[in-house]
Amino acid sequence: TVYPDQHIASKTVSRRIAELIKAKQAKGEKTVLGLATGATPVGVYAELVRLHKEEGLSFRDVVTFNLDEYYPMQPTAKQSYVTFMNENLFDHIDIERANINIPDGTLPLEEIPAFCLEYERKIEELGGLDLQVLGIGRTGHIGFNEPGSAPNSGTRLVTLDDLTRRDASRDFGGKENVPTKAITMGIGTIFKAREIVLMAWNGKKASIIKKAVEGEISGEVPATYLQLSDNVEFVLDQDAASEL
Ligand code: GLP
Repeated sequence: TVYPDQHIASKTVSRRIAELIKAKQAKGEKTVLGLATGATPVGVYAELVRLHKEEGLSFRDVVTFNLDEYYPMQPTAKQSYVTFMNENLFDHIDIERANINIPDGTLPLEEIPAFCLEYERKIEELGGLDLQVLGIGRTGHIGFNEPGSAPNSGTRLVTLDDLTRRDASRDFGGKENVPTKAITMGIGTIFKAREIVLMAWNGKKASIIKKAVEGEISGEVPATYLQLSDNVEFVLDQDAASEL
């Protein structure tokens, strides 16, 4: 779906999330959301905060799983995805801290495999992700599933692509300070979500959006795997859609 601009698009996505939460609440059920970081979803989170403050939308029955975290990364660091989520969403809504899940960037290497299995198990135990929000990196990554990721991959430790580290360099004051690794949900984890919404704004994303939507399905552009799912919607502004 192509919207005139990212504000209208973000409002539409946040309203959809709010409706899902309310429908589940009415049935006495929890909503399990998969969340993304980066500049792209900021407008959706801001609108969810507004819906909480002005329209009483409650997140008490919402459980969240973030896609990824840099490794190594202290949660209190300003570049951590924990800090990002707190500042953009969690500090402003009534979600229970125990219901927030973000990959742990402080684990010793040898504990990561067990942590990743447990992350998957927790999602399954709750009945799976109701809705997964995605952005897209210029390498075609979703989460931090870089080129070469397998379609059935699970949550795991990955090595970041050079372009991804360059794109993150401003946040870290230079590429050399960007961690070389991350813990990310896999393509397979994302695929199991009942609804997937991939958002992209502005002309910088136009060529990767063209590849993701119209290109050959290949591990070289992990987002192309989304073409295989019936539960995916690409939500774009006109500039991101300009090469389609
Ligand atoms: C990071 C995140 C991705 C995100 C991507 C795009 O790599 N791990 O989940 O989609 O950045 O970021 P932005 O939305 O800032 O363009």
